[in-house]
Amino acid sequence: MGSVLDQFLDQLKNVQPPISTSPSLPSLSYSAAEILALEKQAIFKKSWIGIGRSEQWTKVGDYSSRNIVDIPVIITRDESNQLKAYVNSCRHRGARLLETGEGRCKTFRCPFHRWTYQLNGTLLQTPEFAKDSPLNKADYGLLELPIAERDGFVFIGLSDDIPPLTEWLGDFSELHTPWAFSKMRSYKRHLFEVNCNWKAFLDVFNEYYHLPFVHPDSLDSMYLPPEPADAVTGEYASQFGVTDGNPSLLEDTQQFALPPIPEIHGNAATGTRYSWIFPNMTFAANKDAVWMYEALPIDTQRSQIALTLLLPEASFALEDFEDRAQYYFKRLIAAVEEDIPALENQQAGLNSPISQQGRYHELLEPNVAGFAFWYSKMLLESS
Ligand code: FES
Ligand SMILES: [Fe+2]
Repeated sequence: MGSVLDQFLDQLKNVQPPISTSPSLPSLSYSAAEILALEKQAIFKKSWIGIGRSEQWTKVGDYSSRNIVDIPVIITRDESNQLKAYVNSCRHRGARLLETGEGRCKTFRCPFHRWTYQLNGTLLQTPEFAKDSPLNKADYGLLELPIAERDGFVFIGLSDDIPPLTEWLGDFSELHTPWAFSKMRSYKRHLFEVNCNWKAFLDVFNEYYHLPFVHPDSLDSMYLPPEPADAVTGEYASQFGVTDGNPSLLEDTQQFALPPIPEIHGNAATGTRYSWIFPNMTFAANKDAVWMYEALPIDTQRSQIALTLLLPEASFALEDFEDRAQYYFKRLIAAVEEDIPALENQQAGLNSPISQQGRYHELLEPNVAGFAFWYSKMLLESS
């Protein structure tokens, strides 16, 4: 009998188009520590990872300190207004410069021995070192990571081994033109953890199949059968579906709808586009709002999730904006609260050591299959 890894790779090589004949991802990819270790190398070190929206770092010195997979990272806007990402580890003896959280600062000062860095990562002060010390400060700036923005979405790289973001996103901007993403603003960002694998969380968000069974009284009636998935270029999947009613709001709070995105037109105004930028960022774009999720692994069974609600700039100026916007957020929380028990139950089943691969529904789960094909390619290429 081969190792867990051999068994996994053997199953994985059958996960490829077309959807109608492909097996689903092996359950080991949702449950085995060896596979998460492989994902860290083959996926997270080789991909642009979605980390939010650029308006989270508006002013010089705005920062976030987070763990991205297993790397402590600082994201900030430097003195020349550039977004920057650094490894959150002091160049003296490695302490974290900032605790996990958000804020605004003028410099990064290490709490351990007070080495201090400028926002652009340059080492500024090394207390007690003599002026004629052979230490050359220019050699001890913060370690920088790739960071880039497109249409207001921000992505980080955990190594230099990733293609340019324009190549990664392919025709993403063209396909999403009607939503005018760069003119949208974050209304709220909500962080939570769920007891399931990071991929399972992204899977369920992207599929129509579960709607009548998991959301029968809250959402299901608004979603009509979707269109087939779009053929796209770039490392993402996307599917549009016409809706009946406004799925940005629950069935019983439809009267609180905000105005549509001023730029929206044509077919885009008649439904929802679900897109998944591989590996970890996904959103639903409606005529009046966009909600996005970033999901990252904590371990095989637990994920860190960020939910952000985006609304068009014009809506923020309305007198009763706050009153209405809260119903949008309530809808998102209600949906995720219905999804979580289903996900925890799925995870319990995925943990079975005796299992076989399943199948995907061609029309109701094409984004899930699109991700599985991409994932399979990435893992097989690097092993
Ligand atoms: S570890 Fe940061 S100053 Fe010593
Ligand atoms: Fe759901």
